[in-house]
Amino acid sequence: MSTTIYFDEYGDSSVLEAREEELPPLNAGEVRVSQRAISVNPADWKIVAGYARDFLPLPLPAVPGNESAGVVTEVAPDVTGFAVGDEVIRTGIGGSYRAEATFPATELVPKPADVDFEQAAGLPVAAGSAYAGLEMLELEPGQTLLVHGAAGGVGIAVTQIALHLGLRVIGTASPRNHEFLRSLGATPVAYGPGLVDEVTALGGVDGVFDTHGGADCVAATLALLSDLTRATTVAEDQHSAEAGIAPVGAPMDSVARIVAAVAELAARGVLRFPVQERIPLAEAARAFELSRAGHVRGKLILVP
Ligand SMILES: NC(=O)c1ccc[n+]([C@@H]2O[C@H](COP(=O)([O-])OP(=O)(O)OC[C@H]3O[C@@H](n4cnc5c(N)ncnc54)[C@H](OP(=O)(O)O)[C@@H]3O)[C@@H](O)[C@H]2O)c1
Repeated sequence: MSTTIYFDEYGDSSVLEAREEELPPLNAGEVRVSQRAISVNPADWKIVAGYARDFLPLPLPAVPGNESAGVVTEVAPDVTGFAVGDEVIRTGIGGSYRAEATFPATELVPKPADVDFEQAAGLPVAAGSAYAGLEMLELEPGQTLLVHGAAGGVGIAVTQIALHLGLRVIGTASPRNHEFLRSLGATPVAYGPGLVDEVTALGGVDGVFDTHGGADCVAATLALLSDLTRATTVAEDQHSAEAGIAPVGAPMDSVARIVAAVAELAARGVLRFPVQERIPLAEAARAFELSRAGHVRGKLILVP
């Protein structure tokens, strides 16, 4: 029997339910994975809340979770490239909140041996989006990047990759995260009133990566940057759309390339996020509440 988190209807964290189930035999193209770490993203509770149901309808009941890492325990006969005992990273739409999981082999990439399961589980969505967005911005070493929300899952990855590329990073965060951002090598600033003046006093910026969105972040971007081809957002909303700020969007055929690239950066020690809290899988609802509150530093990890 294996613990799985289901939701039968769209709603808040109260619709999540832990169930014990037998896993059916593998179908062609599938791989069974014993999950070691499951990463929580804001997208998880947004999908369960139904924010994406018009363009991403899920057959209900459904299982949340877009990324995880574990060990292969069984492989369908037609699958090549994976064997029992392989350590893998999974990324896909839904289905990761499971202790034992069956995934299409196409959703798996090898986990580097020297990246632990927690770090690996959190790479595809946050670090992958950071990597894809920085590719879009095409900034040069020595230029300055402003990161709105630099202490969150995406923001930390943007900061670490940008610093690795030789950029100077100014990152917004609440004051409790400033020392942490300094420890990464970024210059912290508080978001809210005074942000534009403070960043201007630091010499201004050549690019902006917005991980928070909303009227205030977009207004600050517009005040600080005249060339909006050097701005991108993972928090697309009406404000960024009206301003003409491009959302991060990696073509689907780039996903495996980008996950492999961030896995390599993690293996080289460039990427490493703090785990704010390890939460038992059966308590996924609590993870939703923490994520929804909007002040996670690094990542929340569900432990099967
Ligand atoms: N489109 C995509 O491909 C994609 C991919 C990943 C994520 N996303 C989206 O990107 C957003 C961020 O994701 P995440 O995983 O980084 O979230 P997260 O880990 O929950 O981080 C949220 C961060 O936002 C910061 N924050 C809170 N209020 C802020 C404000 N007023 N101004 C600036 N920053 C503020 C918080 O910093 P403090 O604690 O210091 O306040 C916190 O570090 C979410 O909306 C998510 O759905 C989109």
